[in-house]
Amino acid sequence: MAETFILITGGCGFIGSNFVRHMLAKYRYNVVNLDKLTYAGNPENLQDVEKDNRYTFIRGDIAEKSDLEKVFKLPIELVVNFAAESHVDRSIIDPDTFIKTNINGTFQLLEMAKKKNVKKFVQISTDEVYGSLGKEGKFSEDTSLAPNSPYSASKTSADVLAMSYYKTYNMPVVITRCSNNYGPYQFPEKLIPLIITNALNDIELPVYGDGLNIRDWIHVKDHCEAIDTVLHKGKEGNVYNIGGDNERTNMEIVKLILKLLDKPETLIKYVKDRPGHDRRYAIDGAKIQRELGFKPGIDFAQGMEDTIQWYRENRRWWERIKSGAYLEYYKNMYENR
Ligand code: NAD
Ligand code: DAU
Repeated sequence: MAETFILITGGCGFIGSNFVRHMLAKYRYNVVNLDKLTYAGNPENLQDVEKDNRYTFIRGDIAEKSDLEKVFKLPIELVVNFAAESHVDRSIIDPDTFIKTNINGTFQLLEMAKKKNVKKFVQISTDEVYGSLGKEGKFSEDTSLAPNSPYSASKTSADVLAMSYYKTYNMPVVITRCSNNYGPYQFPEKLIPLIITNALNDIELPVYGDGLNIRDWIHVKDHCEAIDTVLHKGKEGNVYNIGGDNERTNMEIVKLILKLLDKPETLIKYVKDRPGHDRRYAIDGAKIQRELGFKPGIDFAQGMEDTIQWYRENRRWWERIKSGAYLEYYKNMYENR
């Protein structure tokens, strides 16, 4: 299978970089990473694989036809589309790029993939397309779509657009809808890395509203394993939910991090709530387990200990992000060539 080319978009982000590493380690595929290098894309995330001759990085935008034409000169057979604007708070302040990348970008990528007759197109969607749950119940693949933020609305548009390419053009599309990920290389604007890095620096920990919103946390390595399973075994035209079966309030998460770091709870600061803040997410992962045999394997307590250890050991990585210094890397790497 050494000749198989897989395109991974957004491979310099959090989940994408973990997935690039997973695929290079497990298969003999040629991995092509197309990434625009927005503020969230950091080539330092993949420094360890840069010299692998099965890995190709192309800086470009999924919404730009000319960039896609360049990429698809390679014989791409498989596509996994991670590229997106991914942070809900940013979508509330400035939705523009969310529409451009998440909707138009997915559209351009689908068009190119259709033209090139790819063998599988995995659209990485999110559980946020389902909106918010009350105290009871879980999201199944049949739950109606009811997104509440510009981010989730843009991801929902991409999700249904991708499915329309299966229905209309018979394109081999599969969709995954995963819950909240945690683990190494997550940009420290998201709850878990923000709290870990602020606590390590002894600065305030912002908790929105009453801190009792619930998320279903899954380790990024489990998510990568699930995407790999869907890529290779998922049935065309199907949606697969992926979850950690691990519901926690935000306050539980914050207190757990403080305990593991031996830091005081006086660092916690309640701040104004996020507008339209979804109250609860919970995934029913029965379909992917029953039909494809996937079940998350990483225990949350262990996963959090390992994640905290990773942030402790990689202080330089996140300090360069928090200070903006990582952006220099792009200049050196791409602008001086
Ligand atoms: P991230 O923000 O860490 O990374 C996004 C990557 O996409 C970055 O490398 C960025 O440079 C790149 N990118 C952005 N716009 C681009 C464009 N126009 N063209 C090419 N590349 C572009 O995001 P993440 O947390 O790794 O999420 C990856 C995907 O998984 C997203 O589609 C997100 O919606 C989805 N998802 C995330 C989670 C989560 O908990 N983080 C859960 C479920 C689904
Ligand atoms: O559920 C999947 C989604 O999870 C993905 O689709 C998104 O890309 C990803 O960003 C994530 O969205 P959330 O909005 O759930 O994640 P975030 O880390 O931003 O927030 C998690 C919870 O913590 C949420 O209830 C808001 C709260 N929060 C967040 C931040 C950044 C705080 O209380 N304080 C904070 O400073």
